[in-house]
Amino acid sequence: MSQIDNQMTEEIKKRRTFAIISHPDAGKTTLTEKFLLYGGAINLAGTVKGRKAAKHAVSDWMEIEKERGISVTSSAMQFNYDGFCINILDTPGHQDFSEDTYRTLMAADSAVMVIDGSKGVEAQTIKLFKVCVMRHIPIFTFINKFDREARDPYELLDEIEEVLGIRTCPVNWPIGCGKSFKGVYDRFSKKITTFTAAMGGAREVDSQEFAVDSADVDSIIGQDYHQQLRDDIELLDGASDELDMERVRIGDLSPVFFGSALTNFGVETFLEHFLKMTTPPLSRKTLDGVIDPFRPDFSAFVFKIQANMNKAHRDRIAFMRICSGKFEAGMEVNHVQGGKKIRLTQPQQLMAQDRKIVEEAYAGDIIGVFDPGIFAIGDTLCASSEKFQFEGIPTFAPEHFARVRQVDTMKRKQFIKGVNQIAQEGAIQIFQEFNSGMEEIIVGVVGVLQFEVLTYRLRNEYNVEVILEKLPFEHIRWVENPGEVDVARIQGTSDMKRIKDLKDNPLLLFINSWSVGMVLDRNPALKLSEFGRA
Ligand code: G4P
Repeated sequence: MSQIDNQMTEEIKKRRTFAIISHPDAGKTTLTEKFLLYGGAINLAGTVKGRKAAKHAVSDWMEIEKERGISVTSSAMQFNYDGFCINILDTPGHQDFSEDTYRTLMAADSAVMVIDGSKGVEAQTIKLFKVCVMRHIPIFTFINKFDREARDPYELLDEIEEVLGIRTCPVNWPIGCGKSFKGVYDRFSKKITTFTAAMGGAREVDSQEFAVDSADVDSIIGQDYHQQLRDDIELLDGASDELDMERVRIGDLSPVFFGSALTNFGVETFLEHFLKMTTPPLSRKTLDGVIDPFRPDFSAFVFKIQANMNKAHRDRIAFMRICSGKFEAGMEVNHVQGGKKIRLTQPQQLMAQDRKIVEEAYAGDIIGVFDPGIFAIGDTLCASSEKFQFEGIPTFAPEHFARVRQVDTMKRKQFIKGVNQIAQEGAIQIFQEFNSGMEEIIVGVVGVLQFEVLTYRLRNEYNVEVILEKLPFEHIRWVENPGEVDVARIQGTSDMKRIKDLKDNPLLLFINSWSVGMVLDRNPALKLSEFGRA
């Protein structure tokens, strides 16, 4: 192997790329901030997101995010820690989220799930988790806020197992919580780390470590907690799943950690265990094989397109995950779907607060490149001598629908252009009436906030006012075999509506979920799917 290849291999081995997911307020931002703090990417905690203050999160780009103080779009950040180069993919922290969130998970090799210890598994975690399950990606759980009153840890684990359908293996175990939070016991090093709150910018927690069989334990955590801990250890060693890394890697078993992000407790140990347990970038499937991340030739796929991050430039940025080899600024690549060779100009990466131009990047990294309007989500880029396609990113079923009209009929052109461009970025999906053209547009979104984003962006970027009329449908199905059934003659239910997408593929909308089954019963030849073809 040449020296250059060797260097590339070393760089790729250092990469860890994960998405961080949680229900709003569980502590995702706080945990991310502490990671960046340990990595030296930021100096003071509290700079990632000023929360209720007027400051804005690192990942807040769009105006609407600033106005509402929420993170609508997902973003990526990179930092170094202990010889690793870590890419964190952030997912929107608002309860309304979009397909962007789902797609971001497609660019990650593993996921960190943050759970509020007083609340347990919440609605949004379930939805996101299903995507992780679909992709078989490893999930690491951080149960947060143990410095406050929390639920019984056994109950929390049972809930994760039951609701999410994954087994758990606690790596550490809490001793008390809230005012009587004594610390955690590491089941593998068999040590107790005592809890000391270190707020704000403190880098290291002033905690003490004791072997569980040391004579001092009684005096440190108290007799009662010591006895409870002995019982817990016995129970856990006897009854919980073993930490089988093979099962972790296929997303069957989640290592669980307890801690408190706000007080810096358990964060660094979590990061250290996590980095040891996760793998360097994984191979990616193409339509006819797999691509090894360590092969020298560059390849990447686009998982997100974002418009107008910088209003002054009206730019569009295509975010891509590098899947193999090394990227060098200005390199010529083959844009497979576009059928053209292109030069990737001004590649950017996010490093804590700043966007910077990258000169080189490696498999596992996320880069954003200027998009003159040629990229679509799921597109493959590869070395100019090659031509293959990564497997497509599925279109997720929208759950909210609305009919959209422009107020001023003279602005028809801008309106059509606007909704089409926003749909291309993947923020919304657009449909038409089954028997007519673009005169009526039906918009489908995964999270209702996207309706607001659409209205806002049409007004600000395309100068078009629109009226949205919400529709009662909640379930959408693609007709999988339109060649075999006459869609116009499907025996429907009273709550069924026929529509088509922009490629004229027929779809059905339903108000009630049971109608889906009824329509399938009435039309035996009909095949329906929840996911659109990418
Ligand atoms: P999110 O990104 O998942 O939405 O959550 P975020 O980190 O913004 O945290 C939500 C709230 O929970 C914040 O309080 C934060 O300080 C608090 N929090 C996070 N981790 C912990 C923890 O380990 N223990 C405790 N006790 N609280 C925690 P806030 O009042 O909304 O914001 P702020 O006024 O504190 O900035």
